[in-house]
Amino acid sequence: MTTDLAQWLAAQQVAPELASVVASMAAASAEIGAVLRLAPIAGQTGLAGHTNVQGEAQKELDVVSNDIVLRHLQANANVSILVSEELDEAVHMENQGRYMVATDPLDGSSNLDVNVTVGTIFSVLGVDPAKPDLLQKGSAQLAAGYAAYGPATSLVLTFGTGTSVFTLDGSGQFVLTLESVKVPVASGEYAINTARERFWDKATLAYVTENVAGETGAAGKRYNMRWVGSMVADIHRILMRGGIFLYPLDSETTSKGGRLRLLYEANPMALLVEAAGGKSTTGRERILDVQPTGIHQRVPVILGSAEEVSRVEGHYAAN
Ligand code: AHG
Ligand code: MN
Ligand code: MN
Ligand code: MN
Repeated sequence: MTTDLAQWLAAQQVAPELASVVASMAAASAEIGAVLRLAPIAGQTGLAGHTNVQGEAQKELDVVSNDIVLRHLQANANVSILVSEELDEAVHMENQGRYMVATDPLDGSSNLDVNVTVGTIFSVLGVDPAKPDLLQKGSAQLAAGYAAYGPATSLVLTFGTGTSVFTLDGSGQFVLTLESVKVPVASGEYAINTARERFWDKATLAYVTENVAGETGAAGKRYNMRWVGSMVADIHRILMRGGIFLYPLDSETTSKGGRLRLLYEANPMALLVEAAGGKSTTGRERILDVQPTGIHQRVPVILGSAEEVSRVEGHYAAN
C-alpha cells in the first residue's frame, strides 16, 4: 500500500487550507522539475539578463521557476502574500487568504550548467490579509519544505513536528517514501565552503581545524568534507545520513549579515532539521528565534546533527 501526498495531507492534524498551500507548492515543484529535466534541450540554460535584489545575475530558470510558483499560489485562494528570492518586493495577491509563502524558487542555480541537484525551498506562515506581518520569526512557521531535483525528485515536508519524505512517481504524484526521518545525533561529515577559510571567524576555524585533525582532534574521530554548493542537496544529505552544514558569518559577509537568506533558506531548513531531531543556530542563537528585519535579510547558518552543532556552539561561546 502506498500513500500519496493528498492522502497523507488529509490525515495530518492541520487546517485543510494550510494543507492546500503545501499541495500548491508540491504541484509547483513537480512542474519546475519537469522544466529542469528538459531545459538543456529547450535551450533554457542562460542568464535572464537581470540582477535580483541580492545583486545576483538571475538565470532564465530562476525566473521561470519563480513564475511557476507565483502562478500556482495565485490560483490558491488561501494565499495572500508571496515573498521570493527573485522578487524585490513582497507580492500582495488579489486573494485574501490567511497564508503567506516565502520561497527560494530555485536553490543552487549556479549549478544548473553542471547538472547536479538543485531545489525549491518554501516556508508557510499565517497572516492577517488586512494587516500582514511579513517579518515573523521562523518559530512561527506553520509548514516548511523543499523539493530536491536529483536522480529522483524528493519532496521533504514538515508541519513542525516530524519531517517526511516523498518521491515523485512517473504519473506526477508524490508518494510517501519516509514517514519520519531522523537526523543522526552524531556524524563524521561536515559541509562548508573551505575556499572561504581566510574570512572565517575564530569559532568556525577552531571547529574545522579540529575536524581536519581527525583522531587527534577534540572529537577524536575522522571526518569527511562534503560540499555540493546547492543548499538543498547539502541539507538533503544531512537529513538522510547526518552531518553539519555551515555558512557562517565571515569577514566578507559581515556587512550583509551572512550569505544565506533568513525567510526562505535558513528558516524553512532549520524547521525541517529541528523537526527531524537536529539543531540549528547562527552560532550565537537559534535560527528560528531570529527576529527578521527585512524580507531578504541574510543570516549565518549552522545546522544538522545535534552533537556537531553543539560543538560549534561551544566554540562560539568561547570566542
Ligand atoms: P541560490 O542559488 O538560491 O542563490 O542559493 C545559493 C546558495 C546555496 O544554495 C549554497 O549553499 C550557497 O549559495 C553556495 O555558496 P557559494 O557560492 O559560497 O559556494
Ligand atoms: Mn540566487
Ligand atoms: Mn538558495
Ligand atoms: Mn535561488
